[in-house]
Amino acid sequence: MPKLSIRDVDFKGKRTLVRVDFNVPLDASLNITDDTRIKEALPTIKYIAEKSGKVILVSHMGRPDGKVVEKMRMAPAAKKLEQLLGKPVLTAKDCVGPEAEKAVAAMKDGEVLLLENVRFHAEEEENDPAFAKQLAALCEVYVNDAFGTAHRAHASTEGVAKFVKIAACGFLIEKEIKYLGMIVSGAQKPVVAIIGGAKISGKIDVLTNLLGKVDTLIIGGAMAYTFLRAKGLKTGNSLVEEDKISLAASIIEAAAEKKVKLLLPVDHVVTANKDNPSDAKCVKEIPDGLTALDIGDESIKLFTDEIKKSKTVFWNGPLGFFEIPRFATGTMAIAKAIADSGATSVVGGGDSVSAVKKSGVSGKITHISTGGGASLEFIEGKELPGIAALNEK
Ligand code: 3PG
Repeated sequence: MPKLSIRDVDFKGKRTLVRVDFNVPLDASLNITDDTRIKEALPTIKYIAEKSGKVILVSHMGRPDGKVVEKMRMAPAAKKLEQLLGKPVLTAKDCVGPEAEKAVAAMKDGEVLLLENVRFHAEEEENDPAFAKQLAALCEVYVNDAFGTAHRAHASTEGVAKFVKIAACGFLIEKEIKYLGMIVSGAQKPVVAIIGGAKISGKIDVLTNLLGKVDTLIIGGAMAYTFLRAKGLKTGNSLVEEDKISLAASIIEAAAEKKVKLLLPVDHVVTANKDNPSDAKCVKEIPDGLTALDIGDESIKLFTDEIKKSKTVFWNGPLGFFEIPRFATGTMAIAKAIADSGATSVVGGGDSVSAVKKSGVSGKITHISTGGGASLEFIEGKELPGIAALNEK
């Protein structure tokens, strides 16, 4: 771990600005529907508070585009954090300026304050240096633990680190680097990656980078149909990215050159109408007019046999339209196979994380990443600006 860790810092009496990713899903009544990201930030928050630091939390919520949006206030996160910590969480009406400064000045050692949504200021996403300086003025130490936002070069994730002498990384970022880092270098073999989801477009660099790292690459979800077309197979009305067929062909070729086993679905659950799938059936060849929305039993067996043999598994993206129960079988079976495999398992990305949670096996997964875009960029081999900006150890 080449970056300065919070273990290396003396927090006693220090005003510590901690960038967390409390961008959590809310329902219409502003109740948090998944508090994972808040829970995952607790070790860092508790550690600094126990070491008598003043914990000043800053986060974004949603994409308010530089304006105050009432339903994107941090209040629900503050309430949830208070429940999880079992102690009061102070709040401020802004994240910079007099309101924030007043709230920080009133803090006692070991207290926790959550500032208002940092994206209420357009300067945050612009990574404006003057705004970053204002954030830096609130603290003596900066800690980044917002892995989910570490791929954004924003003022609170990147810019601020330039204006604070001590900029360290929190426990969550350390954990994410440990497990996602394992996939891109030094994983125990055989390594199996399962990549699903709707489109190849967002995952080209992920696929390309993984080809140099894994023994088996399993492709499922709608993106598999672009690959099947590249192999000259019929795909009916299934989602195919026509402009990515030749790219899929070159990935198939590169896998063969690198001696990576590339597995695609061999059977499919098809329907004429996904909203009323009473006609859904499993076929080997997709007929004209029908859409494939899940992998079939033979594919499940092919994929799970491979997962059983693995020592390390990485999964990103569902294998079918799992939001509709009739098309969730493949995704749920893969989640279970990963959980039962005994391999070190890492799941990254929004949809696969909700699929794992839905399948009820999340407790058996070694690491579930809190990053969507951030985990993908990490697997692509990119340096994340929010991590790069921190001090070296
Ligand atoms: C996420 O949910 O992926 C992070 O919080 C980053 O959010 P953003 O995509 O709006 O930058």
